[in-house]
Amino acid sequence: MSFPPHNEIGAPLAAPGLAYVVELCCGPPVLYRMYLRTKDVDYLGIDINEGFLREVERCGGRALRRDLRTADPLPGGDFVVMPGSLYHFLPDPAPLVRRMLRAATREVVIAEPVRNVAGARWSALSRLAARLTNPGYGEQFLRFTEATLEAHLAPFEDRIIETVVIAGGREVMYVLRGAGAVASIADASAGNPNA
Ligand SMILES: C[S@@+](CC[C@H](N)C(=O)[O-])C[C@H]1O[C@@H](n2cnc3c(N)ncnc32)[C@H](O)[C@@H]1O
Repeated sequence: MSFPPHNEIGAPLAAPGLAYVVELCCGPPVLYRMYLRTKDVDYLGIDINEGFLREVERCGGRALRRDLRTADPLPGGDFVVMPGSLYHFLPDPAPLVRRMLRAATREVVIAEPVRNVAGARWSALSRLAARLTNPGYGEQFLRFTEATLEAHLAPFEDRIIETVVIAGGREVMYVLRGAGAVASIADASAGNPNA
């Protein structure tokens, strides 16, 4: 049985009053389409893929094309979220996590699959998974396990509010206290002065 995790990821974002949500690597964008669109949320989806960004705009959200491997400042928001994509920034995701923390005035939410076929060595399935997750700049072989995700987020321990196993054990979600000053995604085109 498959457990779609987006409801669980969206739950911490259900703040009273309007919330500014910035989703990094938003993709199609499932989180916005299936969960956030009906909430009191001002949404900005960021991705490298223009096709996905057109989909964001079709759904009524705001869209920004960025290659998040660069050190460019992130737009600020109450919540900065990244479901199922931190593995693209291995082997060193810490600089991006730091930028997320600086951009979020309230919380950073990172959810990541920790049971992956792509991490398995030399199997046909792992090669296929690496090829299917190629964002346009190379096959993506690296993935997290529960232990490596914990190790990568250990430097941010003092910011971790909670760690929750979601999607029936397939993913782990970290909620971290943001470090950003008051800003909003209205700053999107200018960038966040805190970053
Ligand atoms: C596995 S999908 C996750 C999509 C979405 N977050 C979800 O949960 O359904 C990974 C997304 O990351 C995007 N991506 C990968 N590398 C990126 C980069 N360097 N900068 C911006 N987006 C990137 C891809 O285009 C893709 O939409």
